[in-house]
Amino acid sequence: MQRTFSIIKPDAFRKGYAGAILAEIEKAGFQIIAIKKLSISKTQAEGFYYVHKERPFFASLTTFMSSGPIIAMVLEKDDAIADLRKLMGATNPANAEEGTIRKKYAGSIEENAIHGSDGEDTAQFEIGYFFAGYELA
Ligand code: CMP
Repeated sequence: MQRTFSIIKPDAFRKGYAGAILAEIEKAGFQIIAIKKLSISKTQAEGFYYVHKERPFFASLTTFMSSGPIIAMVLEKDDAIADLRKLMGATNPANAEEGTIRKKYAGSIEENAIHGSDGEDTAQFEIGYFFAGYELA
C-alpha cells in the first residue's frame, strides 16, 4: 500500500465539481485516509509550491491556489502515486486523455482542477504540509 496527497483546487470547488471528483477517486479504488476543506493564504501556497518558485507561473499559481476553498486529502492504494496521476491526466487539460479528471473538469493548464504528488518524497512533504500525524492514524 502507498499513500499520496491530493488537492481539489479552487476552480473545481467553485464550479461544484468536488463531489464528482471525490466519487471518481473512490471508484478508482483509493481509500480516503484524511480529508479537509480549507482555504490557504498566498504565503501558504508559496510554501507548498516552493519547488516552482523560479517558474514564470509561480505568482499566478499561488494567487489562484489562495483564491478560494480547496479540499486536501491523503489517499491510499497500491501504486497510489502513479495511479492518481493516471486518473488525473496531463497537467494541461488540452493534452489529457479522455476519461481523466482534468479532461472532464479542468479549464486550463493553471486552473487544472486537481493536484497529485509526483513522487514518494514529494508525497511525504505534501502530506506533512497539510496533515499532522494524529490525523493519519
Ligand atoms: P500541479 O500538478 O498542482 O503542479 C504545479 C501546478 O502549476 C500545476 O498543477 C498547474 O496548476 C500549474 N502549472 C504548471 N505549468 C503551468 C504553466 N505552464 N502555466 C501555468 N500554470 C502551470
